[in-house]
Amino acid sequence: MSREDAVNALPTGVGLRLPHLAEVAAGTSGAAWLEAHPENFLANPHARELLLRARHDHPIALHTVGVSVGTATGLDRSHLARLRALVDELDPFLVSGHLAWSTHNGIYLNDLLPIPYDDDALRVVAANVHEVQEVLRRCYVVENPASYVAFSTSTRAETDFLAELASRTGCKLLCDVSNAYLSAANLGYDAYEYINGLPADAVAELHLGGFTRETDDAGAPVLIDTHAAAIDEPVWKLYAHAMRRFGPQPTLIEWDSALPAFAQLLSEAERADFVTHATFEGGAHARAG
Ligand SMILES: [Fe+2]
Repeated sequence: MSREDAVNALPTGVGLRLPHLAEVAAGTSGAAWLEAHPENFLANPHARELLLRARHDHPIALHTVGVSVGTATGLDRSHLARLRALVDELDPFLVSGHLAWSTHNGIYLNDLLPIPYDDDALRVVAANVHEVQEVLRRCYVVENPASYVAFSTSTRAETDFLAELASRTGCKLLCDVSNAYLSAANLGYDAYEYINGLPADAVAELHLGGFTRETDDAGAPVLIDTHAAAIDEPVWKLYAHAMRRFGPQPTLIEWDSALPAFAQLLSEAERADFVTHATFEGGAHARAG
């Protein structure tokens, strides 16, 4: 990937949250592109109307929080149908969701819960991702989770699980660089090796978000994926490494809690663009396989 390609790559986008919706729909946001959570718009006609207005001036990606690909009893098909209708209406350039589970027997849990990385789980997740792609009639993009615990029964590394999922289903991967950093810190592995272990050809989007430093009940440090702060300095370094490995990919700034003015999101996006250009300053770079 040459520096010219990097300069021509889609600039960094920002997550669209409801408090900023009217401002963005007015067409003066300055954002290169937006990523919205579809669940905010499925039962809110006014918000949906504003989102469609924002679509006139911005490319839009959708990032689901309610498609539970890790649920062994199958997907919520009514939710998937409503998601399909929104996708048809908006024609987003990318639809993504999480490697996690959040529903069981029709009950929605307000969390993205971890799954064991074994062959049984891989079959479940692959079948669900196949169904999502069939219903939405497009490629689905699966994000690496923020992790706090690991299953002792896992037989695969997370990177291997994601690579095999992409190979079996043709789905793409969303590398949340902050999640990679945070999970590595919480579980005690190397974040750079994690990035190196992902299949570069499958990565189609990157996320950057802020986390919070806390301590667990035993007093040990733990990083929590709050999306409530600016991006941490070590994450910017890891982001540059990810760009070198994956080539310039659509990158998104995620900020959900303690939401600042939209201008601060834009300034984080500008910094990501600066890192992209600085990373490729001085010559060509081959996308690693
Ligand atoms: Fe993310």
